[in-house]
Amino acid sequence: MSLPPITEDHRARRFADGYDRVFAEVERTFLGPIRSRLVGHLTGRVVEIGAGTGANIRHFASADRVELVEPFPRMREQLHRRLGAREGGIPMRVVDGRAEELPFADGSVDAVVSTLVLCSVVDVQRALAEVSRVLAPGGVFAYLEHSRGRGLKRIVQTAITPLTIRYAAGCHHDRDLAAAIAGMGAAHVEPVHVPAPLGIRMLPEWPLIAGRATVPGPLSLSEAADR
Ligand SMILES: C[S@@+](CC[C@H](N)C(=O)[O-])C[C@H]1O[C@@H](n2cnc3c(N)ncnc32)[C@H](O)[C@@H]1O
Repeated sequence: MSLPPITEDHRARRFADGYDRVFAEVERTFLGPIRSRLVGHLTGRVVEIGAGTGANIRHFASADRVELVEPFPRMREQLHRRLGAREGGIPMRVVDGRAEELPFADGSVDAVVSTLVLCSVVDVQRALAEVSRVLAPGGVFAYLEHSRGRGLKRIVQTAITPLTIRYAAGCHHDRDLAAAIAGMGAAHVEPVHVPAPLGIRMLPEWPLIAGRATVPGPLSLSEAADR
């Protein structure tokens, strides 16, 4: 299946421009420490999908090099700016690409990072199949995602999804990403604790799921869809 082209309208540009400002406080108090625990120990060649404005960049501490994949030009501009402001550190480069068609060879990557991205991709199964394809055997998929909840939370998430698709660059609150990631058939999942206060638990972005999944090897697209 061919993917629809990436079209960056004025809403997507506004989303990119406001991203760091809107999330500054939650980043400082809540998300930042989770990002550190999630990616700080990843080693070797690391690929981040949907790197956005580069919120994870300062948390990579042990990687040999990091490839920051991002399909939206306005987000890539911010990534370039953030990389340009660094002095030294781990080699990193910005890559124009999307999760469903990663521009990397099979088994060539030690870790793939996805934080708050699978809600926005066009095709979750295809993106996860790509993650499995590019990871070397025993490679790690490190994820932090918001997933579908239950009961009233789920009703709210379903109701607001048309709005967040429109105004938050394609974000779906109604995706069961916990099930999608479980469907990768990881050999081992090391959960990363998300210590959420009540205020966070009330948000439509809760439940947040985070972990490092050791992925056994490439799945075919049909296997991924069957899971
Ligand atoms: C909510 S932002 C998260 C950004 C960043 N990962 C973070 O943790 O702050 C979602 C990101 O996913 C990107 N994105 C959307 N569709 C994508 C796709 N098909 N493949 C890769 N990234 C995508 C968006 O451009 C945006 O940068």
